[in-house]
Amino acid sequence: MLNKDNDKQLAGKEAVKLVKDGMTIGLGSGSTVNWLLQALGERVQAGLQIKGIPSSRKTERLAKEHGIPLTDLSETTQIDIAIDGADEISPDLTLLKGGGGSLVREKIVDVAANELIIIADGSKVVSQLGEFPLPVEVLPFGWEVTEANIAALDCTPTLRKEKNSPFISDNGNYILDCKFPSIKQPRELHEQLKLIVGVVETGLFCDMTEKVIVVKNGQIEWLTKKDARGNKNE
Ligand code: A5P
Repeated sequence: MLNKDNDKQLAGKEAVKLVKDGMTIGLGSGSTVNWLLQALGERVQAGLQIKGIPSSRKTERLAKEHGIPLTDLSETTQIDIAIDGADEISPDLTLLKGGGGSLVREKIVDVAANELIIIADGSKVVSQLGEFPLPVEVLPFGWEVTEANIAALDCTPTLRKEKNSPFISDNGNYILDCKFPSIKQPRELHEQLKLIVGVVETGLFCDMTEKVIVVKNGQIEWLTKKDARGNKNE
């Protein structure tokens, strides 16, 4: 197995240790979360009683394959822990997400959770966000207008494609991957983008998590908000 995959698997296994009987778990999306689903499925087969709320159709399908019982937000909006991946993680634990195109449902599930735990391999930790183009979900209607308004914020948006057609999110929308020179003020940028008509949501997740499990070359490290402020881990 490639080193990175091994690290993603270890991160998933570490996060599963936090899951306890009776919990409702928000299930993120992406290749790291797929490892989490496998580990969680094994615990469910061993008798763990939980319910999962998936943040994408793909996660829903995989969770079912692993025998994880599911519920949805129409049944409960009380989520004990959400466990999700990220494309970039800044030193203050601001996240850039949406590489898999599931940012809207991920954000809805993640904000509903009492606690959001992020799992990632070491390549996701960056000193500044923005090397990875920022995914922004937009309505298909008039997306060209939305794109022009986003481009005016000093970025180059690219319509995400799949097999030469626009990529369609689980919500029936388009994704613009927006390359900024760098993202120095993520909250301000998120707010500016949200004011543009046609923008559904951005992949900037500000102040949403206080705990990140990072695995690099097999070494597990917990990043916390406290570390982010320059204090030592306790
Ligand atoms: C999905 O839309 C994303 O937000 C994922 O959480 C993110 O892309 C992480 O994916 P990997 O675990 O595959 O790196």
